[in-house]
Amino acid sequence: MDNTPDDAREQLEKLSGKFDAMGQDLSAQLEGFLHSRPVNYWDYIQTDALLNLQVQRTLYPDEMVFIMYHQINELLFKMILWEIEQVAFKEVLTARFFAERLQRISRYFDMLTGSFTIMREGMEMEQYLKFRLTLSPASGFQSAQYRLIEFGSTDLENLIDARFREKHDPQTPVDESIEKLYWQAAGKDYKTGKKSYTLSQFELKYKDEFKRFLVKYKNLNLYARFKTLPEKDKNDATLREAMRHYDHTVNIKWVMSHFRAAQYYLNKGQEPIEATGGSDWVKYMHPKYQKRIFFPELWSQEERDDWGKHV
Ligand code: HEM
Repeated sequence: MDNTPDDAREQLEKLSGKFDAMGQDLSAQLEGFLHSRPVNYWDYIQTDALLNLQVQRTLYPDEMVFIMYHQINELLFKMILWEIEQVAFKEVLTARFFAERLQRISRYFDMLTGSFTIMREGMEMEQYLKFRLTLSPASGFQSAQYRLIEFGSTDLENLIDARFREKHDPQTPVDESIEKLYWQAAGKDYKTGKKSYTLSQFELKYKDEFKRFLVKYKNLNLYARFKTLPEKDKNDATLREAMRHYDHTVNIKWVMSHFRAAQYYLNKGQEPIEATGGSDWVKYMHPKYQKRIFFPELWSQEERDDWGKHV
């Protein structure tokens, strides 16, 4: 870029304004430029840190596939949460901004759904069945970001266990509602109410963070923000389509890809093998039982009734 003296003066004036406002001395900042080293790709992307996070518990090579693919998922979950935050805290939210951010989120989730065959087909059965034994009682069930995506997408009522959802009072305090979330079913003996080790540890680590997040997103989650849009924006065809696509991708397509991977590895014989997290996973994972829907208003009664039935 050609930089004339006038351009340089204008840039200096802008910099001066910026550092004055911060109570900082511009000439000291400029001198810093003289001494700072140029940035490299590996510094900026933090490749050394990132590529040192893959630690196996066994010597089976396919365990590496399992670890890395989970890490990729967590990174994409972070990208999804980032976009949810952009919508949640947008002061003047337009249908266009909302739809564009949802399309980004859907692209990320489409990636996760389309790539799940890396789990289903990309590991040797014999290796998987051995290294998984060293992971128990850990489970993907303990992914906190997955839960935050759900909390950031919809009202808490829509995540209540299907058995209690209809009777659930939206005014119930967060503490009580958490006990009725659909995923408690994977970690609780409903006769005794006793929580599994997997669930207890998960709550010990994340429950307080979940409560803070739920309070913060009560009126700012995607569904809540949608409901406060003016009627014209609520009827925007692109936005409605983006919301339906996202809901369907997460709550049917991803859930089914995940279920099929579990079925492949854990349902070889007559009886399903126990999952590392210990859930009654066949019932727990299939979308037709829990009928998780982030944006119920955007689906007809028939579509809601048939959720997950024809997959
Ligand atoms: C071979 C691959 C996989 C198998 C066999 C598998 C199996 C399971 C099973 C059986 C459960 C039920 C809870 C339990 O008892 O453990 C579960 C839950 C879960 N897994 Fe996986 N999983 C696999 C890969 C993944 C990946 C790559 C992710 C991405 C982070 C993931 C994320 C989750 C999440 C978020 C849950 C909770 C889902 C919910 O509450 O509906 N899983 N998984």
